[in-house]
Amino acid sequence: MSVSAASAPSVPSGPVRILGIDTSCDDTGVGIVELLPDGRVNLLANRVWSQTVHARYGGVMPELASREHVERIDEVMGDALREAGLNVTDIGAVAATSGPGLVGALLVGLMYGKGLAQALNVPFYAAHHLEGHIFAAASEADLRAPFLALVVSGGHTHLFDVPRDGEYVLVGATMDDAAGEAFDKIARLAGLGYPGGPAISEAATRGNPDAVPFKEPLQGQKTFNFSFSGLKTAALLAHRAGAAPEDLAASFQQAAVKVLVKTTTRAAHAHGRGTVVVSGGVAANTALREAFKATDLNVVFPGRGLNTDNGAMIALAGAAAIRAGRHASPLDGGATAYAPLANA
Ligand code: KG4
Ligand code: ZN
Repeated sequence: MSVSAASAPSVPSGPVRILGIDTSCDDTGVGIVELLPDGRVNLLANRVWSQTVHARYGGVMPELASREHVERIDEVMGDALREAGLNVTDIGAVAATSGPGLVGALLVGLMYGKGLAQALNVPFYAAHHLEGHIFAAASEADLRAPFLALVVSGGHTHLFDVPRDGEYVLVGATMDDAAGEAFDKIARLAGLGYPGGPAISEAATRGNPDAVPFKEPLQGQKTFNFSFSGLKTAALLAHRAGAAPEDLAASFQQAAVKVLVKTTTRAAHAHGRGTVVVSGGVAANTALREAFKATDLNVVFPGRGLNTDNGAMIALAGAAAIRAGRHASPLDGGATAYAPLANA
């Protein structure tokens, strides 16, 4: 038997304040948005507690991540409500990430969100982490299908076609490392620190992008896939041959940006999409943004602070679900480590 919270308001008659929670990995994120009756959405708050406990292990320790979420989530929610100038009773719907991610970490935010929705007697929406990343761009534009979306983060490099609201077709993905993972690994190799994306981006401003020649991955492919392992190996060889970290950073960044923009542009043209969302942690990269802006596409990026994991993007995905008239989620749904957004 399914246990449901109050049913979805398909056409809200007044503004709905939606609280979104993301605890999928090592950031405790709570955000609040306001959905207006005309379908416009305002961002009211975005608070993220980034866990530092993992730094000494060189990777995220799942059990420690879960414990930190438990310890921090109340405080982060209080901060978000204060930032929005709201009381908890002003919240009209709750959304929380149910997957993909670390199951123990996900469960903290998911259970918290369900409990809150039940206590307030408002609808609850289980959100997909990648749908959250995509709708992070709704902070900057009235995002409605059809469009193409490139999600580039530490765990994903996925291209989705979105022909209709709520429908996702996977048109390409990485065949090995995610783009952010390659930034992180090459930064570590060059001794530039963690997280690698911002470190590479900063070092690149002092390097020569043509110093290290990188071969374009999957050159001549007819599909829209990505591969970063070849760039990683080339970076290792250049590092061993004595390339300066700044030159390595600038050259790798140029090669990664070029292939991301080229493949995405080709996919947009092939699918007849003029609007492209570029989101996820790597979408914070200035060189990537500049290169996308120079294309003939209408490229939409998430607003400041919404590229990396956060709760506001989940609230924005919740707003899109309500606007599309989607039903509220049952309260007995679980967290899933692996959850594809599209079947492909
Ligand atoms: O979306 P996110 O916070 O977490 C995942 O869901 O994976 O993305 C984190 C990734 C990291 O790999 C980080 O190095 C990368 O995003 N990143 C960047 C930049 N800022 C963060 N990559 C390139 N340039 C940046 N400025
Ligand atoms: Zn993410």
